[in-house]
Formats: sequence, C-alpha cells, structure tokens
Amino acid sequence: MAFVVDGKGLAGTLKKQVKIEVAEFTAACGRPPQLTVVLVGDDAASQSYIRAKERACQRAGIASALIRLPPTITSQELLAMVDSLNRDESVDGLLVQLPLPEHLDAEPIVAAISPLKDVDCFHPENLGLLLRGCPRFVPCTPHGIMQILDSLGTDLTGLDAVVVGRSLIVGRPMAMLLIERNMTVTVCHSLTVDLPAKVRAADLVVAAVGVPGLVKGDWLKPGAIVIDVGTNYKGGGLVGDVDFPSAVKVAGTITPVPGGVGPLTVTQLLRNVLTAARLLR
Ligand code: GUN
Repeated sequence: MAFVVDGKGLAGTLKKQVKIEVAEFTAACGRPPQLTVVLVGDDAASQSYIRAKERACQRAGIASALIRLPPTITSQELLAMVDSLNRDESVDGLLVQLPLPEHLDAEPIVAAISPLKDVDCFHPENLGLLLRGCPRFVPCTPHGIMQILDSLGTDLTGLDAVVVGRSLIVGRPMAMLLIERNMTVTVCHSLTVDLPAKVRAADLVVAAVGVPGLVKGDWLKPGAIVIDVGTNYKGGGLVGDVDFPSAVKVAGTITPVPGGVGPLTVTQLLRNVLTAARLLR
C-alpha cells in the first residue's frame, strides 16, 4: 500500500511559516500584505474557492478584499477596474477569479493585471520568467506540488515524470518546475497515443486533466509517486483524476482527493501575496 500524503498537515506547517513572515512584514511596514480578488458573476465553485482564499488570508494575517461584479459587465469595464486596482497602492496581490462568463475573453484580462501583482502567476511575463528558470512568482498548484515532493525527500534527478494535462495553470508550469529538478518530463494530453504506456514508464505521475478516475492502478509503475490534481464533482463528492482505490495498491506515494494537493494551492497563494507585498513596498 502506498504512503498517502497528508496535504492538510503539510499545508498547516507551511502556513505557520508564512504567518510568521507576514507578521514581520506587518511590523516593518505598518500594514499587512493585501490581496484583492475580483469575482465576475456568481459561479458556485468560484464562490467556494474564494471563501477558502479569504479564510486562509485572515488566518495568516493578510488583509483581503472581494470585489463582486455583475455577470453583464463588459470587457472594457472589467479592464478599467483592473487598471484602477493596478494603480491602487493598497493592493499588493490581485487576481481575477476564473472562469469568466462566456462573453468575456480571459486572456486580455489576465494580461492587463500588473505582473508585479499577479499572484496567480498567469501573466505572460511571469510565465516567461518561469520558463527561463528565474521566476518572480510560481503558480500556486505546481508550487504546492513541489512542496509535497520536497517533503518526501526523494532525489528527483534523472527520474522520468509524466504530466497528464497541458494547461497553462498546471500542466505546463509543472513541467518547467520538474525540468528545473533535472527530471525527464513527458507532457501528455487528450491526443496522446497510448497514455497508459506513457504513465507506466513514469517514476512520477502528475494527473491534471479533469477526468474523474482516468489514471488506473494497472497503468502505474510499482512504487511510483502519484500526484492527483483533479477536483471533479461526481455523485455529490469530490474525486480526483486518479482511481484512488486501485492506484493506492500500486503506487509508492499518492496524494488523496480531497486533502492532497488542494490545501497546498491556497498556501502558495498566501506565499505569493507576501512576495508581491515585498516587491511593491
Ligand atoms: N479558478 C480556479 N482556480 C483558480 C485560480 O487558482 N486562480 C484564478 N484566478 N481562478 C481560478
């Protein structure tokens, strides 16, 4: 049976460290770091993610504000709001919660956020810095996964990693971070031929595609590290992209859903808000 990662426990330890550094920043600057979240419309999942972010900020001593905008807002109006928050010196970290309503194209909105306030690390400039191996921010979920891998103490050098999913938020930045650790990285996606064979060759599998239970136990190399990024609502519960019951019997280490990667994602957002506050002070 695999070692099951306690993401909540690890996040708790890392949050304590962030909280100490936030208190130091606040004492030195006379104000806490500040995160502003923009929510367009009333998507239920987004509201629940935002509540978790607000709660985590509060516990860490970070100030947060939520700006709710109507789903009918135009792209120009939203860009004007982002511009005014870019100029607002009381705002350190700024994110626009995705997905946006269908009539709004996320790309120009994300690109309009000041790269110095871009705590999601979605801005092209910040992704470019990450690609060059000298990141300003690190995207929250891949950063959280690196924290999990570091906590395991495994030397990743030369090992084979398969990242299933090529999104800008997880798959691609994840691949960059693993290359930095000298892993040999294969990025798979919906058109990959013989995905099970690719996964079977991997010492580390990161599943981030949003397909419930896609990665099966008999796809895995025995002893592999399996990181499940999936957050799929199915049958009233949250399930990952990995079929946990079969995978836990074959993997060496596995992250559960919930309680694996998720808690680390929020923790790294706090870390990025602190980084932004230090950049801007
Ligand atoms: N929607 C789901 N996850 C995220 C996230 O990490 N950042 C933003 N901006 N939107 C999201």
